[in-house]
Amino acid sequence: MKGYIYKNVALSASILAAETSRFDQDILEAISAGIDSLHIDVMDGCFVSCTSFSPDIVTKIRQIASLDLHVHLMVEDPRQYASVLAKNGANLVSFHIEAMVDPSEMIQHIKALGMKAGLAINPETSINAVKAYLPLVDQLLIMGVRPGFGGQSFISKMLDKISAARDMAKKYEIDVAVDGGVSPSTAKEIAAKGANVLIAGTAIFAAKDKAASIRELLSAARGMEC
Ligand code: DX5
Ligand code: ZN
Repeated sequence: MKGYIYKNVALSASILAAETSRFDQDILEAISAGIDSLHIDVMDGCFVSCTSFSPDIVTKIRQIASLDLHVHLMVEDPRQYASVLAKNGANLVSFHIEAMVDPSEMIQHIKALGMKAGLAINPETSINAVKAYLPLVDQLLIMGVRPGFGGQSFISKMLDKISAARDMAKKYEIDVAVDGGVSPSTAKEIAAKGANVLIAGTAIFAAKDKAASIRELLSAARGMEC
C-alpha cells in the first residue's frame, strides 16, 4: 500500500491563470492563502494546440516557493521532460495516458528520479484505460474539461468518472485529482464523488480576492461553512 499524498482534500493552484505582469506576486499570494501545491501546465503545441510553460518555469518558481510543485505534461513525448523536471525541483509529474501505448516505463522513470508519478486522462477516454497502471501510480488526474485551455466549464458527465476512479483507486490509496472547471460551485460535488486534490486556475487567479476564493474552494470541498 503506497498511501495517499494528501490525506485531506488538497487544493492546487494552476498557474496558467496567473497574471503575467504580476506572476510572482500572484503565486506568493496563493501560497500564503493556504494552497497545498502549485500546478504547472507544460504544453507542446502538438498534444494540445497551445503551448504554455517550459520546464524552466519550475526552476524560477522553486526560487520563490518551497511547497509541492506538480507538473502536468500535455505533450506528445513525455519521456523528454522527466529528468529536467527532477533537476529543476518538481515533486510530481503527470502525463497523459493518451500520449503513450504503455505508460509503465515512464511511471517507473519518474519515480526513479525521486518524484511522484501521476497519470492524466482526457474526458473522452474511458477510465478503464488506466486500470492496469493503478498499482504503479501515485495520482490519477481526471480532466474536468478538454485539455489545453483554462476558463472552461466543468463537464458534469465527469462526475461519474470521478466516482469510478475513486472506486478503482481506493485499494491502492491513490490520490484522485481533478483539473479543469473547478470553482466554488463545482468543488463540493467533485470532492463528494471522491476527488481529494482539486486543481483550480481561473477560480483562484481571476478572483478579485484570491484568499477569499481559496477559502471558499477549500470549505466547499471539505464540507465546511465558509
Ligand atoms: C487545462 C489545464 C488546467 C487549467 C485549469 O488544460 O490543464 O490546469 O489551468 O484551468 P481552470 O481552473 O481555469 O479550468
Ligand atoms: Zn493542468
